[in-house]
Amino acid sequence: MSQPKVFITRRLPASLESLQQHVAVEVWSERQPPSYEVLLDKIREMDGLLCLLTDRIDRPLIEAGTQLKVISQMAVGYDNIDIAAATAQQIPVGHTPDVLTDATADFTWALLMAAARRVVEADRFTRDQQWQTWEPDLLLGGDVAGATLGIVGLGRIGQAMARRARGFDMRILYTNAERCDPTLEAMLNAEFVPFDELLQASDFVTIHTPLTPATHHLFSDREFQQMQRSAVLVNTARGSIVDPEALYRALSEGQIAAAAIDVTEPEPIPADSPLLTLDNLIITPHIASASRQTREKMATMAINNLMAGLQGKRLPHCVNPEVYP
Ligand code: GLV
Repeated sequence: MSQPKVFITRRLPASLESLQQHVAVEVWSERQPPSYEVLLDKIREMDGLLCLLTDRIDRPLIEAGTQLKVISQMAVGYDNIDIAAATAQQIPVGHTPDVLTDATADFTWALLMAAARRVVEADRFTRDQQWQTWEPDLLLGGDVAGATLGIVGLGRIGQAMARRARGFDMRILYTNAERCDPTLEAMLNAEFVPFDELLQASDFVTIHTPLTPATHHLFSDREFQQMQRSAVLVNTARGSIVDPEALYRALSEGQIAAAAIDVTEPEPIPADSPLLTLDNLIITPHIASASRQTREKMATMAINNLMAGLQGKRLPHCVNPEVYP
């Protein structure tokens, strides 16, 4: 009997040895992702696909995978995958929640602190030989301790941000698709408020909601106008939750003080994006979960989901459990 075949769309930071004992594995070893045409070509003969958020896994692609038994994504977010199409074909889709929560919240916190206290700008200033003396008003930022943090999306990562904020004696506001359990609110000291109130009252706004049609460009001109002129926006969720043109207007016109984003629309950010000219914006290349330990755990989890799917077992972390009877 021939072995099942799987396609892995990039080299992973985990051993494939156990997988290779049971499965014929093909790994895309280029730095750039496989093109859509390559994916379409590969998917026709594969039993399993292990993909990344840079791969567009849409309905035509899923329907072309006539032997496909599992799609396993090495990420917690899965907005690049047409889940309804996978479910219609009875294909379970796996993802990698929990293991990246703390690494992502740590990095988000680093961005928040860096934007609040202008760390990146200060580094540039020093390297540019502009440091001439100690000055009372040099590179002034805003206080984090005691400030108000607005969390948009109190899921796993939003909650991890709330836990960090408690250590900084912050007032914590949140919005969410649904109000959370009062016990959780009490534990996190987090107060549920309407979105506009959160925008108006927060010194820092941090985004932790998935990208869906409802959250696409959730932050646009109207939202920035509601925010304080001293406010800082942090986005480590998905680029398209923020309208990049509105963000440019808000930052360049002083509607908000600063922003720090790990995700952009599109990715990577185009070289001619006006956002790249702004001193009050920190941009990093979608690395919030990028600690060695976390990426290894994510890869292992994705391999385990893939293996379970190939063996006809329930995926340990499945986003469409409705495929199971
Ligand atoms: C990264 O953005 C992820 O969704 O894991």
